[in-house]
Amino acid sequence: MSTEKNRISRLKDRISELKNRRDALILAHNYQLGEVQDIADVVGDSLELSRIAAASEASVVVFCGVHFMAETAYILSPDKTVLLPNLGAGCPMADMITAAEVKRMRQDHPNAMVVAYVNTSAEVKAHSDVCCTSANAARLVANLDAEEIIFVPDQYLGSYVMAQTGKTMILSSGYCPTHARISGVHIAKLRKEYPEAVVIAHPECRPDAIELADEVLSTGGMCQYVKTAPARQIIVATEIGIIHRLQKENPNKVYLPVSEQAVCPNMKMITLDDIVRSLEDMAPEVTVPEDIRARAKLAVDRMLLG
Ligand code: 13P
Ligand code: SF4
Repeated sequence: MSTEKNRISRLKDRISELKNRRDALILAHNYQLGEVQDIADVVGDSLELSRIAAASEASVVVFCGVHFMAETAYILSPDKTVLLPNLGAGCPMADMITAAEVKRMRQDHPNAMVVAYVNTSAEVKAHSDVCCTSANAARLVANLDAEEIIFVPDQYLGSYVMAQTGKTMILSSGYCPTHARISGVHIAKLRKEYPEAVVIAHPECRPDAIELADEVLSTGGMCQYVKTAPARQIIVATEIGIIHRLQKENPNKVYLPVSEQAVCPNMKMITLDDIVRSLEDMAPEVTVPEDIRARAKLAVDRMLLG
């Protein structure tokens, strides 16, 4: 075995030993490093992982994702210890909206309901009526009985939901810097080269990219879709970390990333060493002050029901 393989194998053994000792569940988002996905108990999208974190009986949840995901797990299960192995892993899009801005938007539209993408801080969630993820945003908005709807922070997901539901919403101006690097021009070029391929795109992509997609799906939706898709070549318009899982689950298909630049640096911060350290030290822990948590939970619970 090479030295690198030896090192990874030692880290994996240590994680498995610590995991049992701590009664921990390791969750990894579909964009995490391949070696992190490989040691996780569950790999999934934001909605799947929050459901699993809420239902699990483990006393410790190690969240290999970004900060808002760990926060959401804590909001749902404050009796658990929620660890984020690298506290630097934030979500730039979540930082594009503050609770003060949500309050201002509410003042301008007093009859509106506020729908917050789950990619938001706990404080923003606490000032919102309902949360959504990319997996359930369109369904949730379609079923909402509201005079006006404010949608934060993702302007592109918001535009996609408006097109899907025919409802007009008041949008804030946030966006995902990683998905914004994917353009319709990239997709058109690949489509020409691979006319038999299907294009799967995440709804955080810009409208010119979404327009050229065959399927617009959450990361979990992509994994499900590819399992039964008749096409052998898949053009992937999202963060390229998902290709690790797609390849592992469907090795007979060919995956064509729309852009090699579609890498979320925050999603790549957590390493196997961080996970070992985190389980050894039981840190860094993610918590939310109780008054904010209780209010944020109402919005997250409505998301899980929707
Ligand atoms: P999913 O909910 O589709 O996993 O997306 C989360 C995310 O942060 C995408 O950038
Ligand atoms: Fe946030 Fe975009 Fe990274 Fe997802 S891919 S965590 S939305 S910055």
